[in-house]
Amino acid sequence: MRSKKVIAEDMNRLAPIRQIEISGVRYYIGHQIGRGAFSRVHLVKDEAGRSLVAKIYSPGSDPVIWKHEAKMLRKFASPWIVPFHIGFEYQNQGYLLMDHAGAPISRYVFSIDGKKIAKHVARYLLAALHLFHSNGYVHNDVNPQNVLAKMSSDHTLGEVRLIDLAFLRAAKDATLRPAPVALWMPPPECLESSSREITSAIDIYHAALVLMQIALGKALNYEPSEIGANKPALEASLSSNNFINKLSPALSRDPRDRPTAAELWRHLS
Ligand SMILES: Nc1ncnc2c1ncn2[C@@H]1O[C@H](COP(=O)(O)OP(=O)(O)OP(=O)(O)O)[C@@H](O)[C@H]1O
Ligand SMILES: [Mg+2]
Repeated sequence: MRSKKVIAEDMNRLAPIRQIEISGVRYYIGHQIGRGAFSRVHLVKDEAGRSLVAKIYSPGSDPVIWKHEAKMLRKFASPWIVPFHIGFEYQNQGYLLMDHAGAPISRYVFSIDGKKIAKHVARYLLAALHLFHSNGYVHNDVNPQNVLAKMSSDHTLGEVRLIDLAFLRAAKDATLRPAPVALWMPPPECLESSSREITSAIDIYHAALVLMQIALGKALNYEPSEIGANKPALEASLSSNNFINKLSPALSRDPRDRPTAAELWRHLS
């Protein structure tokens, strides 16, 4: 009897599924689930029916960018980074195929204490940052859209993965231009000077804001003038939530006063 197994179904019926074949393997590209400055992200099924996503770089974007992201995903493969499958060029566009890592952390609504969720996320996020920083690299784009989590069948929050390694840079690599990315809530040192030095302290500041947002259960939106006035650190230190108090040093105005990822994790755990 012929198999009747369905491999892919376009649930929202907005766009037809496209098939592409790479090195003899067929992939089914489904609908779009995300987009950014240089790319669109689509659902994908492979021949075995596994759920993947494809980050498809826009035609005309510099191939150096997707090749760099593929290299970084391979270099930092670990339980804290989205598992990467293959990168290739197809009809003039760069494709990165990776596991479906769930939804951005900001899209979940939690029924329990945000503190517990934030600590769960911190374990993964700070381990990822420790891995980069101890190798002399900086993620450069830590924000709530780049921290993904899966929900288990019992509706508990599962593994957390950091994505979007397009702007990951070696901190000492003077040959790379500063990342052409608009920083999410730039920390004080980035407001004060126009030249953006790449430092691990920027990742730490952003990680603390991501964790504070989760612990509070609402989106944070500090204006540059508030960041300049050190409002995030002051609010963290005055919070009645002791998890948020512990984030305050990571939001210090002077980047030299911020803890490392490992120190922050020890402080939180
Ligand atoms: N592996 C993945 N699994 C599930 N969703 C993903 C995955 N990768 C990306 N997404 C979704 O697509 C969105 C955009 O992806 P990503 O952050 O990699 O690209 P971007 O922000 O466009 O990057 P860039 O900053 O390079 O323009 C994510 O915020 C997320 O919602
Ligand atoms: Mg992103």
